[in-house]
Amino acid sequence: MSDAAASVPALVINPLSELMAAEVVGLDLRQPLDLGTRDAVYQAFLDYQVLAFRDQDLTKEEQVAFTEQFGTLEKHAQRNQGTADHPLVHIVTNLDADGVPTGKVGSMRWHTDKSFRPKPSMATILHALILPPEGGDTVFANMYAAYEALPATEKEELDGVGVVHSWELSRDNIGRTISEWEKRDAPPMTHPLARPHPDTGRKALFMGMHASHLEGMPMEDGRARILKLEAHSTQPQFLYRHHWKTGDVLMWDNRCLLHHADANFDAAVHPRVLHRTCLRGTATNF
Ligand SMILES: [Fe+2]
Repeated sequence: MSDAAASVPALVINPLSELMAAEVVGLDLRQPLDLGTRDAVYQAFLDYQVLAFRDQDLTKEEQVAFTEQFGTLEKHAQRNQGTADHPLVHIVTNLDADGVPTGKVGSMRWHTDKSFRPKPSMATILHALILPPEGGDTVFANMYAAYEALPATEKEELDGVGVVHSWELSRDNIGRTISEWEKRDAPPMTHPLARPHPDTGRKALFMGMHASHLEGMPMEDGRARILKLEAHSTQPQFLYRHHWKTGDVLMWDNRCLLHHADANFDAAVHPRVLHRTCLRGTATNF
């Protein structure tokens, strides 16, 4: 076999919708990726924004090892730290400590992970271990497409506008007052509302439930503008709905997507358990 032939990655990419998302077939994520395959996966990640690796069976350690091949892992906010045996893996679950379904599903509002951080998340990797018989989907909004569909005058208007993301306001909106420690840990952070993607250069609207208001605009006006843009961005033509299969590993780009969990299953009856790892992104200068 020639060197060129040896470097061709043995992976097949099947698009899952016309807009975004692709299934990656032919990889066992327990094994380290050779450089050519890693680069092909990362390019597919940039091209499709959501990648679904089917039929995987990863331990927490193996998920961390897979994630680390693409960047720097990070921990979650204080309330959602990983498990004691693995601080870098967060358990997404509707079960209580005794393993009984609670009826509660988190992350139901549109958001992009850790957008209140100075270096918001680059990617989230979620591995489905236990799923309800049906439902429990994750839905994505393509914020490149939402931005690009705006009238030229509105794009110009948004250029250079800063959006303040606030963990405190985000928790307040769901009825929780954060602790002083959390306030110090996650102060409000300003990002460009039309934020260029560091790898592709394409601009994407950067908002979601952690977005509080716009700089240089009265609070209420800024909030109204953010909500109007969210309504625009989450129209059906900008969405991809992932119907999970057990063993799926989903890897998505937080820099150009919003996402939320859909509680379209009986969470008081059926368990839904996934393991999450996150990669840190980069700061964006205005
Ligand atoms: Fe999330």
